[in-house]
Amino acid sequence: MKLNITKSGIVLSDELKKAAMAANSLLHSGNGAGNDFLGWVGLPSSIDKAQIDAINSCASALRAKADVVICIGIGGSYLGAKAVLDAMSNPFELLRSERKNPIVLFAGQNISEDYMAELLEAVQNHSIATIVISKSGTTTEPAIAFRIIKEEIEKRYGKEEAKSRIVAITDKARGALKTLATNEGYTTFVIPDDVGGRFSVLTPVGLLPLAVGGVDIEALVAGACAMEKATAEEVPFEENLAAQYAAVRYSLYTSGKKVEILGSYEPKLQNISEWWKQLYGESEGKEGKGIFPASVTLTADLHSMGQYIQEGERTLFETIISVEKPKYEVKVEADDANLDGLNFLAGKRLHEINKMAELGVQLAHIDGGVPNILIEIPTINETAIGELLYFFEKACGISGYMIDVNPFNQPGVEAYKKNMFALLDKPGYEEESKAIKARL
Ligand code: PA5
Repeated sequence: MKLNITKSGIVLSDELKKAAMAANSLLHSGNGAGNDFLGWVGLPSSIDKAQIDAINSCASALRAKADVVICIGIGGSYLGAKAVLDAMSNPFELLRSERKNPIVLFAGQNISEDYMAELLEAVQNHSIATIVISKSGTTTEPAIAFRIIKEEIEKRYGKEEAKSRIVAITDKARGALKTLATNEGYTTFVIPDDVGGRFSVLTPVGLLPLAVGGVDIEALVAGACAMEKATAEEVPFEENLAAQYAAVRYSLYTSGKKVEILGSYEPKLQNISEWWKQLYGESEGKEGKGIFPASVTLTADLHSMGQYIQEGERTLFETIISVEKPKYEVKVEADDANLDGLNFLAGKRLHEINKMAELGVQLAHIDGGVPNILIEIPTINETAIGELLYFFEKACGISGYMIDVNPFNQPGVEAYKKNMFALLDKPGYEEESKAIKARL
Protein backbone atom coordinates (compact mmCIF):
# COMPACT_ATOMS: atom_id res chain seq x y z
CA MET A 1 0.00 0.00 0.00
CA LYS A 2 1.18 3.52 -0.74
CA LEU A 3 0.01 6.87 0.61
CA ASN A 4 0.46 9.98 -1.50
CA ILE A 5 -0.16 13.22 0.36
CA THR A 6 1.57 15.57 -2.07
CA LYS A 7 -1.77 16.67 -3.59
CA SER A 8 -3.20 17.60 -0.21
CA GLY A 9 -1.41 20.94 -0.42
CA ILE A 10 -0.21 20.41 3.13
CA VAL A 11 3.38 20.78 4.23
CA LEU A 12 3.67 19.05 7.56
CA SER A 13 5.58 20.83 10.30
CA ASP A 14 7.97 18.94 12.57
CA GLU A 15 5.64 19.77 15.43
CA LEU A 16 2.72 18.05 13.73
CA LYS A 17 4.81 15.01 12.85
CA LYS A 18 5.83 14.76 16.50
CA ALA A 19 2.21 15.10 17.63
CA ALA A 20 1.14 12.24 15.34
CA MET A 21 3.97 10.05 16.58
CA ALA A 22 3.12 10.90 20.20
CA ALA A 23 -0.50 9.91 19.56
CA ASN A 24 0.70 6.64 18.04
CA SER A 25 2.85 6.02 21.12
CA LEU A 26 -0.19 6.56 23.35
CA LEU A 27 -1.96 3.75 21.54
CA HIS A 28 0.97 1.48 22.37
CA SER A 29 1.66 2.61 25.93
CA GLY A 30 -2.02 2.57 26.87
CA ASN A 31 -1.71 5.92 28.60
CA GLY A 32 -4.41 7.68 26.58
CA ALA A 33 -8.19 8.02 26.99
CA GLY A 34 -10.24 4.86 26.49
CA ASN A 35 -7.22 2.68 27.19
CA ASP A 36 -9.37 -0.29 28.13
CA PHE A 37 -10.31 -0.59 24.44
CA LEU A 38 -6.88 -0.99 22.86
CA GLY A 39 -7.03 -4.73 22.22
CA TRP A 40 -7.22 -4.10 18.46
CA VAL A 41 -3.73 -2.52 18.35
CA GLY A 42 -1.87 -5.83 18.62
CA LEU A 43 -4.78 -7.99 17.52
CA PRO A 44 -3.62 -9.16 14.06
CA SER A 45 -0.29 -10.54 15.31
CA SER A 46 -2.03 -12.22 18.25
CA ILE A 47 -4.27 -14.34 16.02
CA ASP A 48 -2.81 -17.84 15.85
CA LYS A 49 -3.41 -20.79 13.58
CA ALA A 50 -5.67 -22.46 16.16
CA GLN A 51 -8.04 -19.45 16.14
CA ILE A 52 -8.15 -19.35 12.35
CA ASP A 53 -8.74 -23.12 12.24
CA ALA A 54 -11.57 -22.92 14.77
CA ILE A 55 -13.29 -20.19 12.74
CA ASN A 56 -12.76 -22.02 9.44
CA SER A 57 -14.07 -25.24 10.89
CA CYS A 58 -17.24 -23.56 12.21
CA ALA A 59 -17.64 -21.86 8.82
CA SER A 60 -17.33 -25.24 7.05
CA ALA A 61 -20.04 -26.72 9.28
CA LEU A 62 -22.41 -23.84 8.42
CA ARG A 63 -21.47 -24.04 4.72
CA ALA A 64 -22.29 -27.74 4.72
CA LYS A 65 -25.74 -27.17 6.21
CA ALA A 66 -27.00 -24.00 4.60
CA ASP A 67 -27.05 -22.36 1.23
CA VAL A 68 -28.00 -19.05 2.86
CA VAL A 69 -26.35 -17.82 6.05
CA ILE A 70 -28.02 -14.81 7.66
CA CYS A 71 -25.65 -12.62 9.66
CA ILE A 72 -27.42 -10.61 12.32
CA GLY A 73 -25.76 -7.50 13.72
CA ILE A 74 -25.55 -3.72 13.49
CA GLY A 75 -22.79 -1.07 13.48
CA GLY A 76 -19.44 -2.63 14.22
CA SER A 77 -21.10 -6.02 14.43
CA TYR A 78 -22.11 -5.81 10.76
CA LEU A 79 -20.24 -3.25 8.66
CA GLY A 80 -16.81 -4.92 8.60
CA ALA A 81 -18.08 -8.27 7.35
CA LYS A 82 -20.34 -6.58 4.79
CA ALA A 83 -17.49 -4.34 3.57
CA VAL A 84 -14.92 -7.10 3.09
CA LEU A 85 -17.39 -9.59 1.68
CA ASP A 86 -18.52 -7.09 -0.97
CA ALA A 87 -14.92 -6.19 -1.78
CA MET A 88 -14.00 -9.84 -2.27
CA SER A 89 -17.12 -11.05 -4.09
CA ASN A 90 -18.38 -11.01 -7.63
CA PRO A 91 -21.44 -8.72 -7.35
CA PHE A 92 -23.28 -10.83 -9.92
CA GLU A 93 -22.70 -14.11 -8.05
CA LEU A 94 -26.41 -14.37 -7.24
CA LEU A 95 -27.14 -15.03 -10.92
CA ARG A 96 -24.95 -18.14 -11.00
CA SER A 97 -26.86 -21.40 -10.75
CA GLU A 98 -23.80 -23.26 -9.42
CA ARG A 99 -22.27 -21.45 -6.48
CA LYS A 100 -19.05 -22.21 -4.62
CA ASN A 101 -20.09 -20.32 -1.51
CA PRO A 102 -23.31 -19.92 0.41
CA ILE A 103 -25.09 -16.61 0.04
CA VAL A 104 -24.44 -14.40 3.05
CA LEU A 105 -27.33 -12.07 3.82
CA PHE A 106 -27.60 -9.51 6.60
CA ALA A 107 -30.33 -8.71 9.11
CA GLY A 108 -30.64 -6.77 12.34
CA GLN A 109 -29.06 -3.65 10.84
CA ASN A 110 -32.53 -2.07 10.64
CA ILE A 111 -36.03 -2.61 12.06
CA SER A 112 -37.81 -2.45 8.72
CA GLU A 113 -40.82 -4.77 8.61
CA ASP A 114 -40.68 -4.97 4.81
CA TYR A 115 -36.96 -5.85 4.85
CA MET A 116 -37.61 -8.70 7.29
CA ALA A 117 -40.70 -9.96 5.46
CA GLU A 118 -38.90 -9.97 2.12
CA LEU A 119 -35.84 -11.65 3.60
CA LEU A 120 -37.96 -14.44 5.12
CA GLU A 121 -39.82 -14.84 1.86
CA ALA A 122 -36.61 -14.94 -0.19
CA VAL A 123 -35.08 -17.74 1.87
CA GLN A 124 -38.22 -19.92 1.88
CA ASN A 125 -36.79 -22.42 -0.59
CA HIS A 126 -33.23 -22.31 0.74
CA SER A 127 -31.63 -24.10 3.65
CA ILE A 128 -30.64 -21.51 6.23
CA ALA A 129 -28.36 -20.92 9.21
CA THR A 130 -27.59 -17.80 11.19
CA ILE A 131 -24.70 -16.04 12.90
CA VAL A 132 -25.93 -13.61 15.53
CA ILE A 133 -23.41 -10.96 16.56
CA SER A 134 -23.68 -8.48 19.41
CA LYS A 135 -20.91 -7.50 21.76
CA SER A 136 -23.24 -6.07 24.39
CA GLY A 137 -25.78 -8.77 23.66
CA THR A 138 -28.52 -6.24 24.34
CA THR A 139 -28.76 -4.16 21.16
CA THR A 140 -32.41 -3.88 20.16
CA GLU A 141 -32.21 -4.15 16.36
CA PRO A 142 -30.25 -7.45 16.17
CA ALA A 143 -32.14 -8.86 19.19
CA ILE A 144 -35.47 -8.40 17.39
CA ALA A 145 -34.09 -9.90 14.16
CA PHE A 146 -32.65 -12.87 16.05
CA ARG A 147 -35.93 -13.60 17.81
CA ILE A 148 -37.67 -13.80 14.41
CA ILE A 149 -34.96 -15.78 12.58
CA LYS A 150 -34.42 -18.17 15.50
CA GLU A 151 -38.14 -18.92 15.45
CA GLU A 152 -38.01 -19.54 11.69
CA ILE A 153 -35.06 -21.94 12.06
CA GLU A 154 -36.65 -23.80 14.98
CA LYS A 155 -39.97 -24.05 13.14
CA ARG A 156 -38.28 -25.52 10.07
CA TYR A 157 -35.71 -27.84 11.60
CA GLY A 158 -36.87 -28.47 15.18
CA LYS A 159 -35.15 -27.19 18.32
CA GLU A 160 -32.32 -29.75 18.36
CA GLU A 161 -31.17 -29.27 14.76
CA ALA A 162 -31.62 -25.50 15.12
CA LYS A 163 -28.80 -25.47 17.65
CA SER A 164 -26.33 -26.57 15.00
CA ARG A 165 -27.57 -23.86 12.64
CA ILE A 166 -27.11 -20.98 15.05
CA VAL A 167 -23.76 -19.49 16.07
CA ALA A 168 -23.50 -16.61 18.55
CA ILE A 169 -20.66 -14.10 18.73
CA THR A 170 -20.81 -12.03 21.89
CA ASP A 171 -19.19 -11.09 25.19
CA LYS A 172 -17.57 -13.88 27.16
CA ALA A 173 -19.83 -13.43 30.18
CA ARG A 174 -22.35 -10.58 29.98
CA GLY A 175 -25.51 -9.77 28.05
CA ALA A 176 -28.80 -11.38 27.10
CA LEU A 177 -27.29 -13.04 24.02
CA LYS A 178 -24.62 -14.76 26.13
CA THR A 179 -27.28 -16.09 28.52
CA LEU A 180 -29.41 -17.27 25.62
CA ALA A 181 -26.47 -18.93 23.85
CA THR A 182 -25.39 -20.73 27.02
CA ASN A 183 -28.91 -21.89 27.82
CA GLU A 184 -29.53 -23.15 24.28
CA GLY A 185 -26.04 -24.61 23.83
CA TYR A 186 -25.10 -22.69 20.67
CA THR A 187 -21.56 -22.66 19.38
CA THR A 188 -20.17 -19.37 20.62
CA PHE A 189 -17.23 -17.13 19.75
CA VAL A 190 -16.06 -14.41 22.08
CA ILE A 191 -15.50 -10.74 21.25
CA PRO A 192 -12.53 -9.66 23.40
CA ASP A 193 -13.43 -7.21 26.17
CA ASP A 194 -10.83 -4.71 25.01
CA VAL A 195 -11.94 -4.53 21.36
CA GLY A 196 -14.82 -2.13 20.65
CA GLY A 197 -17.44 -2.87 17.99
CA ARG A 198 -16.07 -0.66 15.21
CA PHE A 199 -12.55 -2.08 15.71
CA SER A 200 -13.74 -5.71 15.72
CA VAL A 201 -13.62 -6.71 12.05
CA LEU A 202 -10.52 -8.89 12.64
CA THR A 203 -12.16 -10.78 15.53
CA PRO A 204 -14.70 -13.57 14.89
CA VAL A 205 -17.24 -10.73 14.36
CA GLY A 206 -15.81 -10.21 10.88
CA LEU A 207 -13.82 -13.38 10.36
CA LEU A 208 -16.60 -15.96 10.77
CA PRO A 209 -19.08 -14.42 8.29
CA LEU A 210 -16.17 -13.85 5.90
CA ALA A 211 -14.98 -17.45 6.16
CA VAL A 212 -18.55 -18.59 5.49
CA GLY A 213 -18.60 -16.38 2.40
CA GLY A 214 -15.40 -17.97 1.08
CA VAL A 215 -12.92 -15.24 2.00
CA ASP A 216 -9.37 -16.36 2.84
CA ILE A 217 -9.27 -15.03 6.39
CA GLU A 218 -5.69 -16.16 6.94
CA ALA A 219 -4.54 -13.87 4.13
CA LEU A 220 -6.74 -11.05 5.43
CA VAL A 221 -5.15 -11.32 8.87
CA ALA A 222 -1.67 -11.59 7.30
CA GLY A 223 -2.28 -8.29 5.50
CA ALA A 224 -3.40 -6.65 8.74
CA CYS A 225 -0.34 -8.09 10.49
CA ALA A 226 1.97 -6.53 7.92
CA MET A 227 0.32 -3.14 8.48
CA GLU A 228 0.48 -3.60 12.27
CA LYS A 229 4.25 -3.94 11.88
CA ALA A 230 4.51 -1.08 9.40
CA THR A 231 2.72 1.36 11.72
CA ALA A 232 4.29 0.25 15.01
CA GLU A 233 5.51 2.76 17.59
CA GLU A 234 9.14 2.55 16.54
CA VAL A 235 8.44 3.07 12.81
CA PRO A 236 9.53 6.64 12.00
CA PHE A 237 7.02 9.17 10.71
CA GLU A 238 8.51 9.15 7.20
CA GLU A 239 7.64 5.44 6.86
CA ASN A 240 4.57 5.33 9.08
CA LEU A 241 1.56 5.66 6.77
CA ALA A 242 -1.02 5.76 9.57
CA ALA A 243 0.77 8.63 11.32
CA GLN A 244 1.10 10.47 8.00
CA TYR A 245 -2.58 10.11 7.10
CA ALA A 246 -3.63 11.23 10.60
CA ALA A 247 -1.29 14.23 10.49
CA VAL A 248 -2.53 15.40 7.08
CA ARG A 249 -6.17 14.99 8.13
CA TYR A 250 -5.48 16.98 11.29
CA SER A 251 -3.79 19.74 9.35
CA LEU A 252 -6.63 19.94 6.82
CA TYR A 253 -9.22 19.93 9.64
CA THR A 254 -7.58 22.75 11.53
CA SER A 255 -7.35 24.75 8.31
CA GLY A 256 -11.15 24.58 7.87
CA LYS A 257 -11.72 21.35 5.97
CA LYS A 258 -14.49 19.77 8.04
CA VAL A 259 -15.68 17.05 5.67
CA GLU A 260 -13.63 14.15 4.34
CA ILE A 261 -14.99 12.31 1.33
CA LEU A 262 -13.67 8.79 0.87
CA GLY A 263 -14.02 7.63 -2.69
CA SER A 264 -13.00 4.89 -5.04
CA TYR A 265 -13.32 4.10 -8.72
CA GLU A 266 -14.01 0.45 -7.84
CA PRO A 267 -17.67 -0.03 -6.84
CA LYS A 268 -16.73 -3.16 -4.85
CA LEU A 269 -15.13 -0.86 -2.29
CA GLN A 270 -18.33 1.08 -1.62
CA ASN A 271 -18.96 -0.70 1.67
CA ILE A 272 -15.37 -0.25 2.79
CA SER A 273 -16.42 3.42 2.83
CA GLU A 274 -19.49 2.58 4.94
CA TRP A 275 -17.27 0.73 7.45
CA TRP A 276 -14.79 3.64 7.41
CA LYS A 277 -17.60 6.15 8.00
CA GLN A 278 -18.62 4.38 11.19
CA LEU A 279 -15.01 3.97 12.32
CA TYR A 280 -14.17 7.66 11.94
CA GLY A 281 -17.59 9.15 12.67
CA GLU A 282 -18.11 7.30 15.93
CA SER A 283 -14.50 7.67 17.03
CA GLU A 284 -13.94 11.37 16.29
CA GLY A 285 -17.37 12.97 16.30
CA LYS A 286 -17.78 14.13 19.88
CA GLU A 287 -17.39 17.15 22.14
CA GLY A 288 -18.35 19.36 19.18
CA LYS A 289 -15.31 18.16 17.22
CA GLY A 290 -14.40 15.81 14.40
CA ILE A 291 -14.23 15.61 10.61
CA PHE A 292 -17.55 14.53 9.09
CA PRO A 293 -16.90 11.34 7.07
CA ALA A 294 -18.74 11.14 3.76
CA SER A 295 -18.26 8.90 0.75
CA VAL A 296 -18.68 8.65 -2.99
CA THR A 297 -18.46 5.86 -5.53
CA LEU A 298 -16.90 6.98 -8.76
CA THR A 299 -17.42 7.73 -11.51
CA ALA A 300 -21.14 7.22 -10.67
CA ASP A 301 -21.33 10.00 -8.09
CA LEU A 302 -19.63 12.55 -10.36
CA HIS A 303 -23.07 12.68 -11.95
CA SER A 304 -24.78 13.39 -8.64
CA MET A 305 -22.30 14.82 -6.11
CA GLY A 306 -19.67 16.02 -8.58
CA GLN A 307 -21.17 19.51 -8.86
CA TYR A 308 -21.09 20.04 -5.09
CA ILE A 309 -17.58 18.71 -4.73
CA GLN A 310 -16.34 20.95 -7.52
CA GLU A 311 -18.12 24.16 -6.54
CA GLY A 312 -20.03 23.87 -3.25
CA GLU A 313 -18.88 24.89 0.26
CA ARG A 314 -15.09 24.78 0.36
CA THR A 315 -14.94 22.73 3.55
CA LEU A 316 -14.18 19.42 1.83
CA PHE A 317 -11.17 17.27 1.20
CA GLU A 318 -11.06 13.97 -0.59
CA THR A 319 -9.31 10.67 0.07
CA ILE A 320 -9.25 8.28 -2.86
CA ILE A 321 -8.56 4.55 -2.62
CA SER A 322 -6.93 3.84 -5.94
CA VAL A 323 -6.54 0.27 -7.21
CA GLU A 324 -3.49 -0.27 -9.41
CA LYS A 325 -4.42 -3.52 -11.10
CA PRO A 326 -7.84 -5.00 -11.88
CA LYS A 327 -8.39 -8.77 -11.94
CA TYR A 328 -9.78 -8.93 -15.47
CA GLU A 329 -9.22 -7.36 -18.85
CA VAL A 330 -11.99 -5.75 -20.91
CA LYS A 331 -11.23 -3.60 -23.97
CA VAL A 332 -13.22 -1.15 -26.05
CA GLU A 333 -13.27 -2.50 -29.61
CA ALA A 334 -13.15 -0.42 -32.81
CA ASP A 335 -16.47 0.03 -34.57
CA ASP A 336 -16.64 0.67 -38.31
CA ALA A 337 -19.63 3.00 -38.15
CA ASN A 338 -18.33 4.83 -35.06
CA LEU A 339 -21.76 6.35 -34.57
CA ASP A 340 -21.08 6.87 -30.85
CA GLY A 341 -17.79 8.62 -31.69
CA LEU A 342 -15.84 6.37 -29.35
CA ASN A 343 -13.23 5.05 -31.78
CA PHE A 344 -10.63 7.27 -30.11
CA LEU A 345 -10.85 4.74 -27.26
CA ALA A 346 -10.52 1.66 -29.48
CA GLY A 347 -7.98 -0.82 -28.14
CA LYS A 348 -7.95 0.74 -24.68
CA ARG A 349 -8.75 -1.24 -21.55
CA LEU A 350 -11.56 0.07 -19.33
CA HIS A 351 -8.97 0.32 -16.58
CA GLU A 352 -6.96 2.82 -18.62
CA ILE A 353 -10.05 4.94 -19.16
CA ASN A 354 -11.00 4.66 -15.48
CA LYS A 355 -7.48 5.80 -14.51
CA MET A 356 -7.70 8.84 -16.78
CA ALA A 357 -11.06 9.69 -15.21
CA GLU A 358 -9.41 9.37 -11.80
CA LEU A 359 -6.52 11.64 -12.75
CA GLY A 360 -8.77 14.17 -14.46
CA VAL A 361 -11.11 14.35 -11.47
CA GLN A 362 -8.22 14.67 -9.04
CA LEU A 363 -6.82 17.66 -10.89
CA ALA A 364 -10.26 19.27 -11.33
CA HIS A 365 -11.03 18.90 -7.63
CA ILE A 366 -7.65 20.26 -6.55
CA ASP A 367 -8.23 23.24 -8.89
CA GLY A 368 -11.64 23.64 -7.26
CA GLY A 369 -10.12 23.85 -3.78
CA VAL A 370 -10.61 20.24 -2.67
CA PRO A 371 -7.29 18.82 -1.44
CA ASN A 372 -6.60 15.22 -2.30
CA ILE A 373 -5.06 12.32 -0.42
CA LEU A 374 -4.32 9.19 -2.43
CA ILE A 375 -4.23 5.67 -0.97
CA GLU A 376 -2.92 3.23 -3.55
CA ILE A 377 -3.49 -0.49 -3.18
CA PRO A 378 -1.95 -2.93 -5.67
CA THR A 379 -5.11 -4.93 -6.28
CA ILE A 380 -8.29 -6.01 -4.49
CA ASN A 381 -7.39 -9.16 -2.61
CA GLU A 382 -7.47 -10.32 1.00
CA THR A 383 -3.93 -9.18 1.81
CA ALA A 384 -4.45 -5.68 0.47
CA ILE A 385 -7.82 -5.32 2.20
CA GLY A 386 -6.36 -6.58 5.49
CA GLU A 387 -3.63 -3.94 5.24
CA LEU A 388 -6.17 -1.25 4.44
CA LEU A 389 -8.43 -2.13 7.39
CA TYR A 390 -5.64 -1.99 9.92
CA PHE A 391 -4.21 1.17 8.34
CA PHE A 392 -7.55 2.94 8.79
CA GLU A 393 -7.95 1.66 12.35
CA LYS A 394 -4.48 2.79 13.41
CA ALA A 395 -4.84 6.19 11.77
CA CYS A 396 -8.26 6.57 13.41
CA GLY A 397 -6.83 5.98 16.89
CA ILE A 398 -4.04 8.48 16.18
CA SER A 399 -6.51 11.02 14.74
CA GLY A 400 -8.78 10.77 17.79
CA TYR A 401 -5.92 11.43 20.16
CA MET A 402 -4.70 14.32 17.99
CA ILE A 403 -8.03 16.15 18.37
CA ASP A 404 -8.03 15.23 22.04
CA VAL A 405 -11.12 13.04 22.26
CA ASN A 406 -11.57 9.51 23.53
CA PRO A 407 -11.77 7.64 20.20
CA PHE A 408 -13.10 4.47 21.81
CA ASN A 409 -16.41 5.51 23.37
CA GLN A 410 -19.71 6.50 21.78
CA PRO A 411 -21.78 8.27 24.45
CA GLY A 412 -23.89 10.02 21.81
CA VAL A 413 -25.40 6.75 20.58
CA GLU A 414 -27.39 6.37 23.81
CA ALA A 415 -29.66 9.40 23.24
CA TYR A 416 -31.85 7.81 20.57
CA LYS A 417 -32.06 4.52 22.47
CA LYS A 418 -33.45 6.25 25.57
CA ASN A 419 -36.15 7.97 23.52
CA MET A 420 -37.03 4.80 21.60
CA PHE A 421 -37.36 2.71 24.78
CA ALA A 422 -39.46 5.43 26.42
CA LEU A 423 -41.76 5.56 23.39
CA LEU A 424 -42.07 1.76 23.40
CA ASP A 425 -42.89 1.69 27.15
CA LYS A 426 -39.91 -0.48 28.06
CA PRO A 427 -40.09 -1.42 31.75
CA GLY A 428 -37.81 0.87 33.75
CA TYR A 429 -38.47 3.87 31.46
CA GLU A 430 -41.81 4.97 33.04
CA GLU A 431 -40.69 8.54 33.87
CA GLU A 432 -39.04 9.04 30.48
CA SER A 433 -42.18 7.64 28.78
CA LYS A 434 -44.39 10.23 30.44
CA ALA A 435 -41.99 13.04 29.63
CA ILE A 436 -41.46 12.14 26.00
CA LYS A 437 -45.13 11.50 25.30
CA ALA A 438 -45.95 14.96 26.66
CA ARG A 439 -43.67 16.37 23.93
CA LEU A 440 -45.47 14.65 21.06
O1 PA5 B 1 -18.67 0.55 17.50
C1 PA5 B 1 -19.55 0.26 18.29
O2 PA5 B 1 -19.29 -0.03 19.46
C2 PA5 B 1 -21.02 0.21 17.87
O3 PA5 B 1 -21.22 0.60 16.58
C3 PA5 B 1 -21.54 -1.21 18.03
O4 PA5 B 1 -20.80 -2.06 17.21
C4 PA5 B 1 -23.03 -1.31 17.66
O5 PA5 B 1 -23.77 -0.39 18.41
C5 PA5 B 1 -23.54 -2.72 17.94
O6 PA5 B 1 -23.33 -3.07 19.26
P1 PA5 B 1 -23.38 -4.54 19.76
O7 PA5 B 1 -22.32 -5.32 19.08
O8 PA5 B 1 -23.17 -4.45 21.25
O9 PA5 B 1 -24.76 -5.08 19.43
